[in-house]
Amino acid sequence: MAKYVIQGGQKLSGRVRISGAKNSALKLLTASLMGNDLSIIRGVPRIKDIFTMAQVLEVLGAQVEFTGHNDLLVNPTFLNNYVAPYELVSRMRASILVMGPLLAKLGIARVAMPGGCNIGSRQIELHLKGLSMMGASIEQGHGYIEARAKGRLKGTVIPLDFPSVGATENLLMAACLAEGETVIENAAREPEVGDLAHFLGKMGAQIEGIGTSTLLIQGVENLHGAEHRVIPDRIEAGTFMIAAATTGGNITLENVVSRFSELVIGKLRDMGVDVLEDGSRLHVSRNEPLEAVDISTLPYPGFPTDLQALMMVLLSLAEGVSIVTENVFDNRFIFVNELNRMGARIRVEGHHAMVYGGATLSGAPVKATDLRAGAALVVAGLVAEGETEVHDIEHIERGYENLDQKLRDLGADIEKVSGESQF
Ligand code: UD1
Repeated sequence: MAKYVIQGGQKLSGRVRISGAKNSALKLLTASLMGNDLSIIRGVPRIKDIFTMAQVLEVLGAQVEFTGHNDLLVNPTFLNNYVAPYELVSRMRASILVMGPLLAKLGIARVAMPGGCNIGSRQIELHLKGLSMMGASIEQGHGYIEARAKGRLKGTVIPLDFPSVGATENLLMAACLAEGETVIENAAREPEVGDLAHFLGKMGAQIEGIGTSTLLIQGVENLHGAEHRVIPDRIEAGTFMIAAATTGGNITLENVVSRFSELVIGKLRDMGVDVLEDGSRLHVSRNEPLEAVDISTLPYPGFPTDLQALMMVLLSLAEGVSIVTENVFDNRFIFVNELNRMGARIRVEGHHAMVYGGATLSGAPVKATDLRAGAALVVAGLVAEGETEVHDIEHIERGYENLDQKLRDLGADIEKVSGESQF
């Protein structure tokens, strides 16, 4: 297990280019399975989750190949298997997103049940309920979920109990090849769902209501391959904005869509961070002391749960007390113990956390409990006194492309060291 060793105290400065969105690219890959010929997806980040998804697609019979540094070619012509095995699904829950495409294209999908996840119970009943409303029969047993359709799936009205990102995406993809019209109500409005819908449109799908909570899909008989560039990763952008603010630095982010991060930018400004929007760039700097703000995570356009841990680091340095409420996942405060070991003062009560500001963070050995919590501990290490070791960085590498290199380019003192985890 590798670790990052960070010497705190450097202010970040310079430019950083934001990669393509992980949470979009993963779904574009699974959607490309539904085409009758090749798709080219540009701006795909070279991260572990993408390599895992490429393996899932290959197991299913598709050919996947990086043609340029960040361009992926998917050839689904030889799709001949409908089983996503446990070994891969257990590594990455997003593998469940092959279910809609396989069922719609082959009439059958067998996907290992995703195991527990360390950020809370992540259910998939909304995916399954929607697919069965479209006429699929679902059976669960021996650790697998098998969905079958007699002929094409049937379009229908699917009201989601909660605007789940994954359920919206699985049902959207399935609906593209279903017979007739499907309406997904209370759909997730995340920009990554919109990006998927735009890609599907290029493949020949007919989708209305993109970006709204009602998606209307007229099913078609066939989809073809398409070429598409992944939208910029708003969570990576948020990570660098928060890192700059935490260290009192001054950086320019390139390749961003600032409207995807409006609420995050607003909260940072409320805290005293300067954020200047400049086309596809954002200039972020901080010279003033930070002020406390309250944050409540919600589905988009609300504050993203994926930036909650990172914001807690920044709030730990602010003047006053902040209340952070986590509304999306039920166990997303487990990293708080690690942050408190570095000197933060955060008290968790159910799904609320009281962050007592004014902390002086000190370097310590800590463990990345999940992807975003891991990134938060790295950012804490940048501002902590002395040396921080962040262990179990495999979690971080699942979702960030060259995080350590990008931080080094901005002046951070961070090294990746391979070796045994002490945890
Ligand atoms: C996606 C993102 C993840 C982000 C999350 C919320 C990917 C690969 N991951 O995850 O980074 O944090 O959106 O923005 O895109 N739920 C149910 N039943 C279901 C489905 C979901 O109860 O059938 C619950 C989950 O347990 C969770 C909440 O809904 O508490 C949100 O889940 P969802 O929006 O589905 O997130 P993911 O698609 O898993």
